[in-house]
Amino acid sequence: MARPSSKAVAPKAKAKPAAKIKAVAKPVYVLNGPNLNLLGQREPHIYGSTTLAAIEKQVAARAKTLGLAVICHQSNHEGELIDWIQEARTMGSGVVINAGAYSHTSISIHDALATLDIPVIEVHISNVYKREAFRHHSMISPVATGVICGLGVVGYDLALEAIKSKL
Ligand code: DQA
Repeated sequence: MARPSSKAVAPKAKAKPAAKIKAVAKPVYVLNGPNLNLLGQREPHIYGSTTLAAIEKQVAARAKTLGLAVICHQSNHEGELIDWIQEARTMGSGVVINAGAYSHTSISIHDALATLDIPVIEVHISNVYKREAFRHHSMISPVATGVICGLGVVGYDLALEAIKSKL
């Protein structure tokens, strides 16, 4: 009787236990628009005394507790905000955006956000509905997943929680 042939078998690569494989999470883009670099100095009776640097620190700390990564950017230029929104399309897991006055005027930011299929939360520190009529309309709300407005700087933390709940 023929003996079964003894084939050489390459040693199997050991599978890594699932818990040890760290997923590289895509960050949430936290974008602030024009004049928000002046937070802390700008109309503190409306926007409070917290600086943008302090908000970004607070957002990074909240993200950590939620297991999220964040990238924070601020620009006074519409095109730069649009470039970051486009970057978030492929590189981000969500967008938190306070587009400042561009919220009320920018069709381009509306169009950029409309290309995303990740959650988008629009934030306003002040309650824009208690203010001038020109702030009552947002060009970006129709393409946002949700809007947080009038809760002060805690709105950024709440926006991150909202993103987390959508992932
Ligand atoms: C704002 C409200 C806008 O109307 C204004 O132009 C801003 C800030 C807010 O955070 O309350 O720049 O987005």
